[in-house]
Amino acid sequence: MSDLDFLAAAPSGVAKLQPYDPGLDAIEVRRRWTVGEVFELSGNESLWGPAPAVCEALKVAAGRLPYYPDPSARALITALAALHDVDPAGIVVGNGSHELLVQIACTLAGPGQRVVAPQHGFAVFAIAGIQCGAELVLASVYPLDHERALNADPASLAQAAQGARLVYLANPNNPTGGGWDAATLRGFLDSVSPETLVVIDEAYAEYVRRPDWISAARLLADYPNLMVTRTFSKAYGLASLRIGYVLCAPNLAVLLERTRLTFNLNHYAQVAAVAAIADTEHLAYVVDQTLAQRSRWARALTKLGLRVFASEGNFLLVDFARPAQPIFAALAARGVLLRPVGGYGLPNCLRITIADERSLEALLSSLRHVLDTAQ
Ligand SMILES: Cc1ncc(COP(=O)(O)O)c(C=O)c1O
Repeated sequence: MSDLDFLAAAPSGVAKLQPYDPGLDAIEVRRRWTVGEVFELSGNESLWGPAPAVCEALKVAAGRLPYYPDPSARALITALAALHDVDPAGIVVGNGSHELLVQIACTLAGPGQRVVAPQHGFAVFAIAGIQCGAELVLASVYPLDHERALNADPASLAQAAQGARLVYLANPNNPTGGGWDAATLRGFLDSVSPETLVVIDEAYAEYVRRPDWISAARLLADYPNLMVTRTFSKAYGLASLRIGYVLCAPNLAVLLERTRLTFNLNHYAQVAAVAAIADTEHLAYVVDQTLAQRSRWARALTKLGLRVFASEGNFLLVDFARPAQPIFAALAARGVLLRPVGGYGLPNCLRITIADERSLEALLSSLRHVLDTAQ
């Protein structure tokens, strides 16, 4: 059988699927451009890393290397239930929240049903909708002259949600950075049929300090069709270990448990996440540092004459008003790695992960050089 025959025989969702593009990492940048130091400002990871207690706990965890991890991740689920004040029966763990976002669609939606996400929403939403064989619908967003430019428009999302099986929304969203306040979120949830499942992806929740924002985790009791995904990859500084979880009603969690792979969360991941939750001081420190830098970075980039979109996460979306791919490549060749977002329908923009002062200096000096040379 040729490859083509396999493709023709694949389930329709898989046949149509374009895999997630994770972008370049420092190793690939060095391979292509042989630069010295690489400033990785592309993956929205935390430069400040995990709490020191996590590294200590991992040394002890090495003693369990020959054994399978706890298949039910009991210690972590207990810690998460306390953290969010929710029923442990409504928590499902994933090998990163990416896995859960896809698992949710493949478990709860399928052919003949509709999956909805906003335009410029996190890329995995579309992948999940297509992979499960459903029809994918992208709802329109606020226009460029709006203060919430490029972020989900609740009226449009509510309209697209009518009759849909599943709706995804990241609050705040990657790569556009914006989020909904509590009133907007509640208004949207009130407008959606209880038969339509709503997934709120809160990968960047720890960074949001706006008083009018609310975690959808606090609304679970009011909306049985609501699911909330979270990750340890961002503010907790544990992206390499792949730890995510979903909070939802226990009767939805039971269905996700049916399709969850046994042992999907390894022992190191479970131990690290428990230790990370315990160190609230480190988390606050990371968020303080990130937000202070974010204001500084936004001001500096604006001064260069670039449009910087308001962000609630640990990153900024910047519009260069011309195709951004050559700017991305020229910066990468100088060791500054940003994230192109052409695949998100934003070919003139790059996404920049917030890091420390040194990274900002490297970014600005390379950017000045690249923009001057290009003019
Ligand atoms: C909005 C959003 N959701 C989910 C994820 C996936 O995170 P994880 O590392 O838990 O798979 C990301 C990663 O960048 C993200 O930006």
